[in-house]
Amino acid sequence: MRRSLPEKGIHFKVLERELMAARADDLPWDRGTFYTYWPDPGDNTALVAKEAMALMGQQRVISRKGNPSALRIERDVQDMVLGIFQAPDGAACTLTAGGTESNYLAVLAAREWARAARPGLGRPNIILGRASHPSFDKAGHALDVEIVRIDEGPDGRLDPAKVAATIDGRTIMLVGNAPSFPLGRIDALDQFAALAARHNLWFHVDACVGGFLIPFLRRAGIKGQAVDFTVPGVRSISADLHKYGLTPTGLSTLTVRDARDQDHHRFVFTDWPAGEYATPSFAGSRNASTIAAAWAVMRNLGLAGYVAKAKAVAAQAEALARGIEQIPGLRLLNESEAGILVYTSDELDVPAIGDGMTERGFPSRWLKGPIAIHLMISPNGDLETVATYLDVLAEVTQAVRAGTVKRRTEKQVYA
Ligand SMILES: Cc1ncc(COP(=O)(O)O)c(C=O)c1O
Repeated sequence: MRRSLPEKGIHFKVLERELMAARADDLPWDRGTFYTYWPDPGDNTALVAKEAMALMGQQRVISRKGNPSALRIERDVQDMVLGIFQAPDGAACTLTAGGTESNYLAVLAAREWARAARPGLGRPNIILGRASHPSFDKAGHALDVEIVRIDEGPDGRLDPAKVAATIDGRTIMLVGNAPSFPLGRIDALDQFAALAARHNLWFHVDACVGGFLIPFLRRAGIKGQAVDFTVPGVRSISADLHKYGLTPTGLSTLTVRDARDQDHHRFVFTDWPAGEYATPSFAGSRNASTIAAAWAVMRNLGLAGYVAKAKAVAAQAEALARGIEQIPGLRLLNESEAGILVYTSDELDVPAIGDGMTERGFPSRWLKGPIAIHLMISPNGDLETVATYLDVLAEVTQAVRAGTVKRRTEKQVYA
């Protein structure tokens, strides 16, 4: 039934109850149970974000004259992001509404750069892995850029030789994942950056998932490759504050090594009666609340807070991996590198395992190719939950083998 505007206003206390009731069917993303699209920041961090959002929720980010406070906090967030990615002087960061918009802007910038630098280019293409996010296809669709996808190798990473063999006269950009959402693996960024440099291509790193985790894992002494501008040839990095940055949904970043590249994704219109209109992102006016939340969360956690959260993610990933290896019939697809762990079975029905886990309180997402169970680890989880998860998983695996648990879902849908 279509709901109409109420004749008379309803007291907020009533609406509050309705909102809470509406949430009842949502899957639990905040109980450390590994079913998340956005990691659970933990109660204290969530509270900091909520309070900051309430303070700035009526402020807008649009006009230098009208909203200097919002622009000031935006500048602070951008500066902190530039620091996290070790961006050199002259770099620039744009705040966006999400990873999709960040990747869109990267594709737009590469296209505009290539159009200017390579007259007669024709319809450009960009090369990326099959596990790369569909936001690139969305951008390609809107911007008339062909998306060329290549299968990752068994280690979940793109093979530089395969990518090199795919580059043609219309290629403008290579994309590396840090990590890809489905497979959770980080591509060999230094090799792709060098390859891109040899062919005069734009090299973009999609670090929407790992951008605000990997630098802190490294600070915690957990080995792994750099995902920042210390890698020569990385031209742009997209990274979501609303994932492992642990800030509320609606905030991502696109950072370019050279601020002049920002001009390639800035839209400027000067011939308007109200005055010049120039924005570096897709949105026009924006609400300051998510930026304020990020400003407060980042400064409240500080480096030490993010490092502690990264350690918690790594400890759970390690315990899960070692436990899954012990369960007959299950196989880790790869070691976890940045918050995502994927496992499969060569003999059992994987969706049935996922559905069995869901029924027992561990909502599970499975991948459709390779067929596998996908876990995203929250810093707010703990080793006790991991131990329970592993016990339940052992029981479900046996039940699937015995035929007493069967799959209920046939089609996997992300969004
Ligand atoms: C690797 C990667 N890039 C981009 C995105 C898009 O992010 P958003 O959903 O914030 O638009 C996602 C989302 O999960 C992602 O995993």
